[in-house]
Amino acid sequence: MTRIIGIVSGKGGVGKTTIVANLGAILASQYKKRVIIVDCNITTSHLGLYLGMYYHPISLNQVLRGEASMDDAIYDYTIPGLKIIPASLSLDELKGVDIGELKYRIKDLFGKADFVLLDSAPGLGKEGMATLRASDELLFVTTPFVPHVIDVIKAHQIANEVGAKSLGIVLNMSGEGRHELTPQDIEKLVEIPIISIIPRDKHILRSLASKIPVVDLNPNSPASREIKKLAAVMLGEEYKPIRLRRMERIARALRMK
Ligand SMILES: Nc1ncnc2c1ncn2[C@@H]1O[C@H](COP(=O)(O)OP(=O)(O)O)[C@@H](O)[C@H]1O
Ligand SMILES: [Mg+2]
Repeated sequence: MTRIIGIVSGKGGVGKTTIVANLGAILASQYKKRVIIVDCNITTSHLGLYLGMYYHPISLNQVLRGEASMDDAIYDYTIPGLKIIPASLSLDELKGVDIGELKYRIKDLFGKADFVLLDSAPGLGKEGMATLRASDELLFVTTPFVPHVIDVIKAHQIANEVGAKSLGIVLNMSGEGRHELTPQDIEKLVEIPIISIIPRDKHILRSLASKIPVVDLNPNSPASREIKKLAAVMLGEEYKPIRLRRMERIARALRMK
């Protein structure tokens, strides 16, 4: 069965793309799942950038213009089992894109992966709505600050209307101090359970600069550990930290050079 999961939020900059790249990486590398991550944020596409993949002869843009098929726009990442459908970085490539097609083209991926993770545009405009409509299940990403949390309430209401199942809230960038909302406050406000709390972690910025998912670059960093737990929760499994074998550690170190 292919699970189509939208990673959504009310506001931008809360960590959706980071979570999509890292969940995809861990589901493929640790859990040996077949994963396709899709950049559904056509206007400000970042997913390829986060993974060091800049040039794509065919992207989701051509697919949404009816000029190519989804199969043409799928690229292998260096982690076996992980594939990416990028969106174009060029402004010109936005012309003629029919975002309403997204829902139908995502259906073309059924049977081709265990997980399809959709990296949404923020908000509830046309692009954000297209991801909500294309998803069977949703992860709502927020930070512990009031405006981000309030926007998740709206996104959740709309998700109910379009019939997507909520998996819960991922509370990202937590641990900033006493001005943030507590997880209890957030659950009370949004009325959805928090299934993951990812701390603000400088290793994520390092991973962005290196264009390697943090779960790969710094597997034991605080954020990586929480993202691994989130993957386990999504699979309904108990999280067991895995110690890398010596040969794997050496291979990773060589890859980083
Ligand atoms: N837990 C975290 N700790 C530190 N920085 C983070 C964390 N999560 C995301 N970031 C950084 O915040 C910025 C926005 O993240 P991004 O994933 O692009 O958000 P979105 O896709 O929701 O716009 C990026 O620079 C990213 O590296
Ligand atoms: Mg993003």
